[in-house]
Amino acid sequence: MTDKPGFGLRKGLTNYGDNDFSLFLRKAFIKGAGYTDSALERPVVGIVNTGSAYNPCHGNAPQLIEAVKRGVMLAGGLPMEFPTISIHESFSAPTSMYLRNLMSMDTEEMLRAQPMDAVVLIGGCDKTVPAQLMGAASAGLPAIQLITGSMLTGSHRSERVGACTDCRRYWGKFRADEIDEQEIADVNDQLVASVGTCSVMGTASTMACIAEALGMTVPGGASPPAVTADRMRVAERTGMQAVRMAQQQLTIDKVLTPDAFHNAMRVLLAIGGSTNGIIHLTAIAGRCGLEVDLKALDRMGRETPVLVDLKPSGQHYMEDFHHAGGMAALLRELKPLLKLDALTVTGRTLGEELEASGPGFVQDVIKPFDRPIYPQGGIAVLEGNLAPRGAIIKQSAANSALMEHEGRAVVFENAEDMAERIDSDDLDVTADDILVLKNIGPKGAPGMPEAGYIPIPKKLGRAGVKDIVRISDGRMSGTAFGTIVLHVTPEAAVGGPLAHVRNGDRIRLSVAAREISLLISDEELAQRARENPVHEPRAGRGYRKLFLETVTQADQGVDFDFLRAEVSTGVTPKMD
Ligand code: FES
Ligand code: MG
Repeated sequence: MTDKPGFGLRKGLTNYGDNDFSLFLRKAFIKGAGYTDSALERPVVGIVNTGSAYNPCHGNAPQLIEAVKRGVMLAGGLPMEFPTISIHESFSAPTSMYLRNLMSMDTEEMLRAQPMDAVVLIGGCDKTVPAQLMGAASAGLPAIQLITGSMLTGSHRSERVGACTDCRRYWGKFRADEIDEQEIADVNDQLVASVGTCSVMGTASTMACIAEALGMTVPGGASPPAVTADRMRVAERTGMQAVRMAQQQLTIDKVLTPDAFHNAMRVLLAIGGSTNGIIHLTAIAGRCGLEVDLKALDRMGRETPVLVDLKPSGQHYMEDFHHAGGMAALLRELKPLLKLDALTVTGRTLGEELEASGPGFVQDVIKPFDRPIYPQGGIAVLEGNLAPRGAIIKQSAANSALMEHEGRAVVFENAEDMAERIDSDDLDVTADDILVLKNIGPKGAPGMPEAGYIPIPKKLGRAGVKDIVRISDGRMSGTAFGTIVLHVTPEAAVGGPLAHVRNGDRIRLSVAAREISLLISDEELAQRARENPVHEPRAGRGYRKLFLETVTQADQGVDFDFLRAEVSTGVTPKMD
């Protein structure tokens, strides 16, 4: 038997000690599903089905798969759909981040285990696209990302609403007694108006844009909403392209290059993207042997304005971004800052695809470079004795009045402590204080929950306070807003300085100086560390044991240490 594409491929054969017998068995079993030899001799395109009743963000998976299959067959390939884990933000206890690496391992090993010449990764909800790109980068096959697409917006009493910036806004109103039980129930029906991913520039939309900027989707693959004909056409094209990638051996390492990550970081900054995007990009780069340097991101941020006017930094929704021309319109504005020679899944460069994308038109969602929404990139990187390995703030969604601020620390030891006391009338807090939440980092919670969006204490909320400086080692949803310092590294649970902040300490935040400082001496900090040594959390068995023993800090993407490739070349040197 010869070694040709399709089920004749010897790579990954189950070894019964006799390769020809293994191939003979493989074919016999698949023929049990009614395939002919002719079907089995074509390039095999695996299609990762992440549809699940628990994942409405992937609720269009059946239609997408049908369209991908059509594309694969039109191009002469054999589509083979198979399942992996699916992760939805709201149905992933303790956190979706806790499960992201598990999904990446599932993806990687299924790509390795099963015979396929290329793979279509169907993902959308926040952690799924990063997990798939991480797994596919490690597996090394030709791979192409298909985004499920955003949900439609709803309408509440004639006001347009969408998950989940408006979820938070309405919940804030309810907490402040501005709206009643009936109204909060009514709005609950409208926030998620269809299947698909969150309709603002949250993590899902951010990762969709990043996937396209990385060159991992067909052109225009980021923006069509889930239920549209445009989305189905993207799916069909994706299937066709996967066959060509198999034929050309266009493996993922040829696409995920330092230049691709450079372009993705520019896009992350220019879309006012989710802070989670930087953790995921770092993790994906780590699978490629590349290091994302936060300082380089910050330098890029100073020359990359926010151009996309989407919530939570702006006012529009993802479907508006699509109608305004989507990624092509954005990339045209960013062109002078991009590495146009980066290869994409089409086999052409990003520059060539941009040339082919046609002219722009008048619209008001994607701003011209000289009339940005925000003059710098969405994310600023902070440093100081409180965060020796960095912290970040989404400056485009922060309150300008609080970005240079010194205040008294009001400390919560962990999420339970916060939940117990934050709404108490006895809480000693004013609008000038700084809320500090410890132990919600990668190991602390564990899984680095999005609890960094600490609610405004009820007594301040009732007094009309809309924002207050907040600091934690956790993450925040891409759909949230406020003057919120996140990803403080190292985290409290591994003995980072954050562990030793006490009530009443003074903290200085200066976004202009990129500083986050605890205003006590080094000696005092060292003394506190000696007096209260931190014991890292451990677990006795199972995935939690693996997680706690091997998860890295935010600056390494919260990936497991043993899944990262050996770091060879940096992304950093190519950025200046
Ligand atoms: Fe899936 Fe927001 S919950 S994208
Ligand atoms: Mg989210």
